[in-house]
Amino acid sequence: MKHLIDPTDLTYDETNDIITLAEDIIAHRELYTSRMKGKKLATLFYEPSTRTRLSFTAAMMELGGNVLGFDDARSSSVSKGETVEDTVRVVGNFADIIAMRHPIEGAPLIASQVSDVPIINAGDGSHSHPTQTLTDLLTIKRELGHIDGITIGFCGDLRFGRTVHSLIKALSRYKDIKVVLIAPDTLRLPDYIKQDVCDRLGIRYKEVATLEEAIPDLDILYMTRVQKERFLDEDDYDRVKDSFILDAAKMKLAKETMKVLHPLPRVNEILTEVDDDPRAAYFRQVENGKFVRMALICRLLDWKNDDNHKMPEGHEMFVNDDTLHCYNTKCICNNEYVKTKFYESLDGVVRCFYCDTKVRE
Ligand code: NCD
Repeated sequence: MKHLIDPTDLTYDETNDIITLAEDIIAHRELYTSRMKGKKLATLFYEPSTRTRLSFTAAMMELGGNVLGFDDARSSSVSKGETVEDTVRVVGNFADIIAMRHPIEGAPLIASQVSDVPIINAGDGSHSHPTQTLTDLLTIKRELGHIDGITIGFCGDLRFGRTVHSLIKALSRYKDIKVVLIAPDTLRLPDYIKQDVCDRLGIRYKEVATLEEAIPDLDILYMTRVQKERFLDEDDYDRVKDSFILDAAKMKLAKETMKVLHPLPRVNEILTEVDDDPRAAYFRQVENGKFVRMALICRLLDWKNDDNHKMPEGHEMFVNDDTLHCYNTKCICNNEYVKTKFYESLDGVVRCFYCDTKVRE
C-alpha cells in the first residue's frame, strides 16, 4: 500500500505515470466514469478549503465513486478531543481511501502510520501539499509541452507557502531546472528546502529583489498568496502583504510563451486585468487538479495490494538522542501524544521527522 504524504513518496516514474494517466482521462473521460464504482473517498478537512476539497469530491464523483467526510473539525469527534490516529482508524472502516487536510504539520504522516487505507495529504500547515504539486506538474506539461529544462520563478510567500515547498521538491527530479526566488526578506524559502533540496539535488537557484528583474527569463511564473493565517502577528502580515503584484505592465516584460500559475485563492497578488491574457493559466490549472486527483485515486487504489508500492524509507538515518526537541509549535509532536523522531540529513543537520524543522546543526 502506498500513501501520498510528501511529493517524494512517489518515484519519478510513478509521478509521470500519474500525469500520463491524467492526460488519458482528459482525452477519454467516458472510459473512466465507473472506474471507482462502489468505492468511497473520505475527505477529512480540519482546515478551510474550497477548491481542494471540491476537487477531490468532483474527482471521485467523476470516477463513479462516493464521498463522505467533514469540512469543519468542530462538527466531528475532534471537538471531543479525539486524536488524528483514532479518527483515521475509525474512518478506515468506512472508506477505501482518505484525503486529509490539517493545520498541524505532520498530521497526515501520523495518520498514514496507523491507517489500513491509503492516506493523501491534502495540505499540512506550511509544510507540504503534494496533490497541488501533481496539479502544477500536469499544468506545466500541458501548457509548455515539457517539464525538463524550465526556468521557474516563485513569487510571494515562499516561507509559509506549502505548494512552493512541494513543487520545488518534485522538480528536483527533472532535468536542468532553474529556480528564481522572489520574496520579501521575512518570507524567504526555508533553509531545509534550499539546503536539502536545491543544494543537495542540484537545482540551480537565485534570489532576486523584484519581479521586473526576474520576469524576462521565466518559462513559468508561480505566484502565491501571502499566507495570512500562518502569521502570529497581524502587523507583520500588513508589512508584506502587498510586496509583489503582477499586473499587465509587468506581463509586457515576459516572454510570449511564459505561463502564469497560481494555486489559488488569490488575494491581490495578480490584478484581474491579467486574467484575459492567454498566458494566465491559473484557471486551467484548477481543472487539471481534478483530473490529476482522479488519476491519483485510481493509482493509489490499484497499488493498495501491491507490495512494490510501499512508502519509501526516506529518512533512513534516525537519530536516537533523548535531549532533542522539536521547536515547531505547529508540529504534530507538540500537539498530540506522538513520540518524537529525528533524522540526520546528508549535510549532518538533524531535523524533526514530522515537520523537517532543524533541531541541531
Ligand atoms: C493552496 C493551499 O491551500 O496551500 N491552495 C490550494 O490548495 N488550492 C494555496 C493557498 O492557500 O494560498
